[in-house]
Amino acid sequence: MSSVRVCIRGTGSYVPENVLTNQDLMRIVDTTDEWITTRTGIKERRIAPDHSATSDLATPAAEKALAAAGLDPVDLDLILVGTATPDMVFPSTACILQANLGAKKAVGFDLSAACSGFLYSLSVGASFLKGGVYRNALVIGAETLTSITDWTERRTAVLFGDGAGAVVITPAEDESCIEAINLYSDGNLTHLLHMPAGGSRMPPSHETVDKNLHVITMEGREVFKHAVKLMTSAMEETLSDADVTAGDLDLLIPHQANLRIMEAVAKRLRIPIEKVFVNVDRYGNTSAASVPIALDEAVRSGRIGKGSLIGTVVFGGGFTWASAVVRI
Ligand code: ACO
Repeated sequence: MSSVRVCIRGTGSYVPENVLTNQDLMRIVDTTDEWITTRTGIKERRIAPDHSATSDLATPAAEKALAAAGLDPVDLDLILVGTATPDMVFPSTACILQANLGAKKAVGFDLSAACSGFLYSLSVGASFLKGGVYRNALVIGAETLTSITDWTERRTAVLFGDGAGAVVITPAEDESCIEAINLYSDGNLTHLLHMPAGGSRMPPSHETVDKNLHVITMEGREVFKHAVKLMTSAMEETLSDADVTAGDLDLLIPHQANLRIMEAVAKRLRIPIEKVFVNVDRYGNTSAASVPIALDEAVRSGRIGKGSLIGTVVFGGGFTWASAVVRI
Protein backbone atom coordinates (compact mmCIF):
# COMPACT_ATOMS: atom_id res chain seq x y z
CA MET A 1 0.00 0.00 0.00
CA SER A 2 1.19 3.50 -0.91
CA SER A 3 2.55 5.61 1.94
CA VAL A 4 1.71 8.90 0.18
CA ARG A 5 -0.76 10.93 2.21
CA VAL A 6 -3.05 13.49 0.63
CA CYS A 7 -4.15 16.81 2.12
CA ILE A 8 -6.66 19.53 1.39
CA ARG A 9 -4.46 22.53 0.62
CA GLY A 10 -7.17 25.15 -0.02
CA THR A 11 -10.95 25.55 -0.21
CA GLY A 12 -13.30 27.85 -2.13
CA SER A 13 -17.00 28.25 -2.82
CA TYR A 14 -19.45 30.34 -4.76
CA VAL A 15 -23.21 30.78 -4.61
CA PRO A 16 -25.28 32.95 -6.95
CA GLU A 17 -26.54 36.28 -5.57
CA ASN A 18 -30.22 35.72 -6.30
CA VAL A 19 -32.05 34.57 -3.13
CA LEU A 20 -35.39 32.72 -3.27
CA THR A 21 -37.04 32.74 0.17
CA ASN A 22 -39.79 30.49 1.46
CA GLN A 23 -42.11 33.50 1.19
CA ASP A 24 -41.20 33.81 -2.50
CA LEU A 25 -41.98 30.09 -2.97
CA MET A 26 -45.41 30.54 -1.39
CA ARG A 27 -46.29 32.59 -4.47
CA ILE A 28 -45.20 29.72 -6.79
CA VAL A 29 -46.54 26.54 -5.12
CA ASP A 30 -49.10 25.72 -2.42
CA THR A 31 -46.77 25.75 0.61
CA THR A 32 -45.97 27.70 3.75
CA ASP A 33 -42.79 28.94 5.41
CA GLU A 34 -43.85 26.97 8.48
CA TRP A 35 -44.13 23.65 6.57
CA ILE A 36 -40.78 24.09 4.80
CA THR A 37 -38.97 25.20 7.96
CA THR A 38 -40.28 22.47 10.25
CA ARG A 39 -39.89 19.64 7.68
CA THR A 40 -36.54 20.66 6.19
CA GLY A 41 -34.88 23.53 8.08
CA ILE A 42 -34.63 25.48 4.80
CA LYS A 43 -35.41 29.22 4.87
CA GLU A 44 -33.97 30.29 1.52
CA ARG A 45 -31.87 29.06 -1.40
CA ARG A 46 -29.77 30.61 -4.18
CA ILE A 47 -30.81 30.55 -7.84
CA ALA A 48 -28.35 30.83 -10.73
CA PRO A 49 -29.22 33.52 -13.28
CA ASP A 50 -31.00 32.51 -16.49
CA HIS A 51 -28.66 31.08 -19.13
CA SER A 52 -25.87 30.43 -16.64
CA ALA A 53 -24.52 26.91 -16.21
CA THR A 54 -22.71 24.81 -13.63
CA SER A 55 -19.26 25.83 -14.89
CA ASP A 56 -20.17 29.49 -14.28
CA LEU A 57 -20.55 28.66 -10.58
CA ALA A 58 -17.62 26.25 -10.46
CA THR A 59 -15.12 28.70 -11.97
CA PRO A 60 -15.15 31.33 -9.17
CA ALA A 61 -15.22 28.57 -6.52
CA ALA A 62 -12.15 26.99 -8.14
CA GLU A 63 -10.33 30.34 -8.36
CA LYS A 64 -10.85 30.89 -4.63
CA ALA A 65 -9.60 27.39 -3.77
CA LEU A 66 -6.51 27.88 -5.96
CA ALA A 67 -5.79 31.25 -4.31
CA ALA A 68 -6.17 29.70 -0.85
CA ALA A 69 -3.78 26.91 -1.87
CA GLY A 70 -1.28 29.35 -3.38
CA LEU A 71 -1.34 27.55 -6.71
CA ASP A 72 -1.67 28.83 -10.29
CA PRO A 73 -4.09 27.10 -12.66
CA VAL A 74 -1.11 25.97 -14.75
CA ASP A 75 0.12 23.97 -11.72
CA LEU A 76 -2.96 21.72 -11.88
CA ASP A 77 -2.58 18.18 -13.18
CA LEU A 78 -6.17 17.04 -12.67
CA ILE A 79 -9.66 18.58 -12.50
CA LEU A 80 -12.59 16.48 -11.25
CA VAL A 81 -16.15 17.78 -11.19
CA GLY A 82 -18.84 15.91 -9.29
CA THR A 83 -22.17 17.04 -10.70
CA ALA A 84 -25.63 15.83 -11.66
CA THR A 85 -26.23 19.00 -13.67
CA PRO A 86 -23.32 19.32 -16.13
CA ASP A 87 -23.35 22.23 -18.60
CA MET A 88 -24.21 19.67 -21.30
CA VAL A 89 -24.04 15.90 -21.78
CA PHE A 90 -20.64 16.35 -23.39
CA PRO A 91 -18.04 17.75 -23.25
CA SER A 92 -17.51 17.44 -19.54
CA THR A 93 -17.94 20.44 -17.26
CA ALA A 94 -14.36 19.73 -16.10
CA CYS A 95 -13.07 20.43 -19.63
CA ILE A 96 -15.04 23.68 -19.79
CA LEU A 97 -13.61 24.61 -16.40
CA GLN A 98 -10.09 23.77 -17.56
CA ALA A 99 -10.47 26.30 -20.38
CA ASN A 100 -12.06 28.93 -18.10
CA LEU A 101 -9.20 28.63 -15.61
CA GLY A 102 -6.40 28.34 -18.18
CA ALA A 103 -5.29 25.11 -16.51
CA LYS A 104 -3.40 24.11 -19.65
CA LYS A 105 -1.80 20.88 -18.52
CA ALA A 106 -4.67 19.50 -16.43
CA VAL A 107 -6.66 16.42 -17.37
CA GLY A 108 -10.36 16.86 -16.60
CA PHE A 109 -13.45 14.72 -16.29
CA ASP A 110 -16.82 14.68 -14.55
CA LEU A 111 -18.10 12.17 -12.09
CA SER A 112 -21.77 11.22 -11.75
CA ALA A 113 -22.83 10.26 -8.22
CA ALA A 114 -25.65 12.77 -7.58
CA CYS A 115 -25.36 14.32 -4.09
CA SER A 116 -22.33 12.11 -3.35
CA GLY A 117 -20.40 13.52 -6.33
CA PHE A 118 -17.94 15.58 -4.30
CA LEU A 119 -16.77 12.81 -1.98
CA TYR A 120 -16.63 10.35 -4.89
CA SER A 121 -14.45 12.87 -6.76
CA LEU A 122 -12.29 13.48 -3.70
CA SER A 123 -11.69 9.75 -3.36
CA VAL A 124 -10.77 9.35 -7.04
CA GLY A 125 -8.50 12.41 -6.93
CA ALA A 126 -6.78 11.21 -3.76
CA SER A 127 -6.20 7.80 -5.36
CA PHE A 128 -4.47 9.39 -8.37
CA LEU A 129 -2.22 11.33 -5.99
CA LYS A 130 -1.49 8.33 -3.79
CA GLY A 131 -0.58 6.34 -6.89
CA GLY A 132 1.88 9.06 -7.92
CA VAL A 133 0.05 9.67 -11.22
CA TYR A 134 -0.69 13.36 -10.54
CA ARG A 135 0.45 15.93 -7.98
CA ASN A 136 -1.99 18.85 -7.85
CA ALA A 137 -5.71 18.18 -8.20
CA LEU A 138 -8.78 20.41 -8.14
CA VAL A 139 -11.88 18.64 -6.83
CA ILE A 140 -15.24 20.33 -7.29
CA GLY A 141 -18.86 19.73 -6.38
CA ALA A 142 -21.07 22.05 -8.42
CA GLU A 143 -24.75 22.13 -9.37
CA THR A 144 -27.47 24.18 -10.98
CA LEU A 145 -30.14 21.92 -9.48
CA THR A 146 -32.83 24.54 -9.98
CA SER A 147 -32.50 23.87 -13.73
CA ILE A 148 -33.97 20.38 -13.14
CA THR A 149 -36.41 21.33 -10.38
CA ASP A 150 -40.14 20.90 -10.99
CA TRP A 151 -41.52 24.31 -10.02
CA THR A 152 -45.09 22.95 -10.10
CA GLU A 153 -44.46 20.17 -7.54
CA ARG A 154 -44.39 21.40 -3.94
CA ARG A 155 -42.86 18.17 -2.62
CA THR A 156 -39.57 18.91 -4.38
CA ALA A 157 -39.68 22.59 -5.44
CA VAL A 158 -38.89 23.76 -1.91
CA LEU A 159 -35.76 21.63 -1.46
CA PHE A 160 -33.06 22.58 -3.95
CA GLY A 161 -30.58 25.36 -4.63
CA ASP A 162 -27.54 26.20 -6.78
CA GLY A 163 -23.88 26.58 -5.84
CA ALA A 164 -20.33 25.28 -6.11
CA GLY A 165 -17.53 24.28 -3.77
CA ALA A 166 -13.92 23.37 -4.51
CA VAL A 167 -10.82 22.01 -2.83
CA VAL A 168 -7.24 21.71 -3.99
CA ILE A 169 -5.55 18.50 -2.91
CA THR A 170 -1.83 17.75 -2.97
CA PRO A 171 0.47 15.15 -1.39
CA ALA A 172 0.74 15.97 2.31
CA GLU A 173 3.86 17.68 3.59
CA ASP A 174 2.76 17.61 7.22
CA GLU A 175 0.16 15.94 9.39
CA SER A 176 -2.91 17.38 7.63
CA CYS A 177 -4.58 14.78 5.47
CA ILE A 178 -7.45 12.67 4.40
CA GLU A 179 -7.45 9.95 7.05
CA ALA A 180 -10.09 7.68 5.48
CA ILE A 181 -12.74 7.72 2.75
CA ASN A 182 -15.39 5.12 1.96
CA LEU A 183 -17.76 5.05 -1.02
CA TYR A 184 -20.96 3.00 -1.28
CA SER A 185 -23.60 2.34 -3.98
CA ASP A 186 -26.90 0.48 -4.27
CA GLY A 187 -28.40 0.51 -7.77
CA ASN A 188 -31.51 -1.42 -6.74
CA LEU A 189 -33.25 1.71 -5.50
CA THR A 190 -32.76 4.09 -8.43
CA HIS A 191 -36.51 4.63 -8.80
CA LEU A 192 -36.72 6.39 -5.42
CA LEU A 193 -34.62 9.34 -6.61
CA HIS A 194 -33.97 10.08 -10.28
CA MET A 195 -34.52 12.28 -13.31
CA PRO A 196 -36.41 10.03 -15.75
CA ALA A 197 -35.72 11.66 -19.14
CA GLY A 198 -32.83 13.25 -20.98
CA GLY A 199 -30.53 10.22 -21.16
CA SER A 200 -30.44 7.33 -23.63
CA ARG A 201 -33.38 5.56 -21.94
CA MET A 202 -35.71 8.44 -22.72
CA PRO A 203 -34.04 10.95 -25.04
CA PRO A 204 -35.50 14.46 -25.00
CA SER A 205 -38.64 14.74 -27.10
CA HIS A 206 -41.81 16.83 -27.18
CA GLU A 207 -43.47 13.98 -25.30
CA THR A 208 -40.91 13.91 -22.46
CA VAL A 209 -41.17 17.67 -22.11
CA ASP A 210 -44.99 17.59 -22.16
CA LYS A 211 -44.94 14.87 -19.49
CA ASN A 212 -42.52 16.92 -17.37
CA LEU A 213 -39.92 14.13 -17.16
CA HIS A 214 -36.77 16.32 -17.14
CA VAL A 215 -36.99 17.05 -13.42
CA ILE A 216 -35.91 15.53 -10.09
CA THR A 217 -38.41 12.88 -9.04
CA MET A 218 -38.22 11.63 -5.48
CA GLU A 219 -40.02 9.46 -2.93
CA GLY A 220 -39.03 11.80 -0.11
CA ARG A 221 -40.08 9.67 2.84
CA GLU A 222 -38.24 6.57 1.56
CA VAL A 223 -35.13 8.58 0.73
CA PHE A 224 -35.23 10.07 4.22
CA LYS A 225 -35.27 6.66 5.92
CA HIS A 226 -32.44 5.24 3.83
CA ALA A 227 -30.38 8.43 4.22
CA VAL A 228 -30.48 8.36 8.03
CA LYS A 229 -29.59 4.68 8.27
CA LEU A 230 -26.87 4.59 5.62
CA MET A 231 -25.22 7.90 6.50
CA THR A 232 -24.91 6.75 10.10
CA SER A 233 -23.38 3.36 9.26
CA ALA A 234 -21.01 4.94 6.72
CA MET A 235 -19.73 7.51 9.21
CA GLU A 236 -19.26 4.81 11.83
CA GLU A 237 -17.24 2.65 9.45
CA THR A 238 -15.07 5.54 8.30
CA LEU A 239 -14.38 6.71 11.87
CA SER A 240 -13.29 3.19 12.67
CA ASP A 241 -11.04 3.04 9.57
CA ALA A 242 -9.43 6.32 10.64
CA ASP A 243 -8.96 4.87 14.13
CA VAL A 244 -10.86 7.72 15.80
CA THR A 245 -14.23 8.03 17.53
CA ALA A 246 -17.16 10.36 16.94
CA GLY A 247 -16.12 12.14 20.14
CA ASP A 248 -12.75 13.02 18.56
CA LEU A 249 -14.38 15.04 15.78
CA ASP A 250 -14.20 18.83 15.99
CA LEU A 251 -16.94 19.15 13.37
CA LEU A 252 -19.36 16.93 11.47
CA ILE A 253 -20.26 18.19 7.99
CA PRO A 254 -23.21 16.14 6.75
CA HIS A 255 -24.82 16.54 3.33
CA GLN A 256 -27.08 19.57 3.63
CA ALA A 257 -30.35 18.04 2.40
CA ASN A 258 -32.61 18.32 5.41
CA LEU A 259 -31.98 19.48 8.99
CA ARG A 260 -34.02 16.57 10.36
CA ILE A 261 -31.75 14.07 8.59
CA MET A 262 -28.68 15.80 10.02
CA GLU A 263 -30.15 15.82 13.54
CA ALA A 264 -31.08 12.13 13.31
CA VAL A 265 -27.62 11.12 12.07
CA ALA A 266 -25.87 13.22 14.74
CA LYS A 267 -28.07 11.72 17.45
CA ARG A 268 -27.30 8.16 16.35
CA LEU A 269 -23.58 8.98 16.28
CA ARG A 270 -23.92 10.68 19.69
CA ILE A 271 -22.50 13.92 18.31
CA PRO A 272 -23.98 17.08 19.91
CA ILE A 273 -25.77 19.30 17.41
CA GLU A 274 -23.38 22.16 18.28
CA LYS A 275 -20.67 20.15 16.53
CA VAL A 276 -22.70 19.79 13.32
CA PHE A 277 -22.22 22.31 10.52
CA VAL A 278 -25.54 23.57 9.14
CA ASN A 279 -26.12 25.97 6.25
CA VAL A 280 -29.12 24.19 4.67
CA ASP A 281 -31.22 27.08 6.05
CA ARG A 282 -29.46 29.47 3.64
CA TYR A 283 -28.79 27.31 0.57
CA GLY A 284 -31.21 24.35 0.57
CA ASN A 285 -29.93 21.11 -0.93
CA THR A 286 -27.16 21.91 -3.42
CA SER A 287 -26.41 18.21 -4.03
CA ALA A 288 -22.71 17.62 -4.82
CA ALA A 289 -21.90 21.23 -3.89
CA SER A 290 -23.24 21.03 -0.34
CA VAL A 291 -20.24 19.56 1.50
CA PRO A 292 -17.49 21.60 -0.22
CA ILE A 293 -19.49 24.83 0.28
CA ALA A 294 -19.95 23.94 3.96
CA LEU A 295 -16.29 23.01 4.35
CA ASP A 296 -15.19 26.31 2.82
CA GLU A 297 -17.56 28.29 5.06
CA ALA A 298 -16.33 26.41 8.14
CA VAL A 299 -12.70 27.21 7.23
CA ARG A 300 -13.26 30.87 6.29
CA SER A 301 -15.40 31.60 9.36
CA GLY A 302 -12.66 30.17 11.61
CA ARG A 303 -14.96 27.46 12.92
CA ILE A 304 -12.24 24.97 12.00
CA GLY A 305 -8.54 25.60 11.60
CA LYS A 306 -5.18 23.92 11.35
CA GLY A 307 -5.36 20.52 13.02
CA SER A 308 -9.18 20.28 13.23
CA LEU A 309 -10.59 16.81 12.68
CA ILE A 310 -13.65 16.74 10.40
CA GLY A 311 -16.12 13.98 9.66
CA THR A 312 -18.23 14.31 6.55
CA VAL A 313 -20.98 12.09 5.17
CA VAL A 314 -23.25 12.35 2.13
CA PHE A 315 -26.18 10.57 0.49
CA GLY A 316 -27.84 10.83 -2.90
CA GLY A 317 -29.39 9.33 -6.00
CA GLY A 318 -28.10 5.99 -7.17
CA PHE A 319 -28.32 5.35 -4.29
CA THR A 320 -24.82 6.54 -3.57
CA TRP A 321 -23.38 7.49 -0.22
CA ALA A 322 -19.93 8.20 1.12
CA SER A 323 -18.03 9.33 4.15
CA ALA A 324 -14.62 10.78 4.97
CA VAL A 325 -12.49 11.73 7.96
CA VAL A 326 -10.13 14.61 7.21
CA ARG A 327 -7.63 16.55 9.29
CA ILE A 328 -7.49 20.14 8.01
N1 ACO B 1 -45.68 22.38 1.47
C1 ACO B 1 -46.79 21.97 2.11
N2 ACO B 1 -47.14 20.68 2.18
C2 ACO B 1 -46.35 19.78 1.57
C3 ACO B 1 -45.19 20.16 0.87
C4 ACO B 1 -44.85 21.51 0.84
N3 ACO B 1 -43.76 21.98 0.22
N4 ACO B 1 -44.60 19.04 0.38
C5 ACO B 1 -45.37 18.00 0.72
N5 ACO B 1 -46.43 18.46 1.46
C6 ACO B 1 -47.51 17.66 2.03
C7 ACO B 1 -47.79 16.43 1.24
O1 ACO B 1 -48.69 16.68 0.18
C8 ACO B 1 -48.36 15.51 2.30
O2 ACO B 1 -49.71 15.85 2.46
P1 ACO B 1 -50.81 14.69 2.52
O3 ACO B 1 -50.45 13.89 3.76
O4 ACO B 1 -52.09 15.44 2.63
O5 ACO B 1 -50.64 13.91 1.26
C9 ACO B 1 -47.62 15.91 3.56
O6 ACO B 1 -47.09 17.23 3.32
C10 ACO B 1 -46.48 14.98 3.91
O7 ACO B 1 -45.67 14.79 2.72
P2 ACO B 1 -44.36 13.92 2.78
O8 ACO B 1 -43.71 13.94 1.43
O9 ACO B 1 -44.69 12.58 3.36
O10 ACO B 1 -43.51 14.78 3.82
P3 ACO B 1 -42.22 14.41 4.64
O11 ACO B 1 -42.44 14.68 6.05
O12 ACO B 1 -41.65 13.09 4.24
O13 ACO B 1 -41.17 15.53 4.14
C11 ACO B 1 -39.33 15.78 2.58
C12 ACO B 1 -40.84 15.59 2.76
C13 ACO B 1 -38.95 17.10 3.19
C14 ACO B 1 -39.00 15.78 1.10
C15 ACO B 1 -38.56 14.67 3.30
O14 ACO B 1 -39.14 13.42 3.00
C16 ACO B 1 -37.11 14.62 2.93
O15 ACO B 1 -36.36 15.50 3.25
N6 ACO B 1 -36.66 13.53 2.28
C17 ACO B 1 -35.26 13.35 1.95
C18 ACO B 1 -34.82 14.20 0.83
C19 ACO B 1 -33.32 14.02 0.67
O16 ACO B 1 -32.60 13.97 1.63
N7 ACO B 1 -32.79 13.92 -0.49
C20 ACO B 1 -31.34 13.68 -0.53
C21 ACO B 1 -30.89 13.42 -1.77
S1 ACO B 1 -31.46 14.61 -2.96
C22 ACO B 1 -30.53 14.30 -4.33
O17 ACO B 1 -29.85 13.33 -4.43
C23 ACO B 1 -30.68 15.27 -5.50
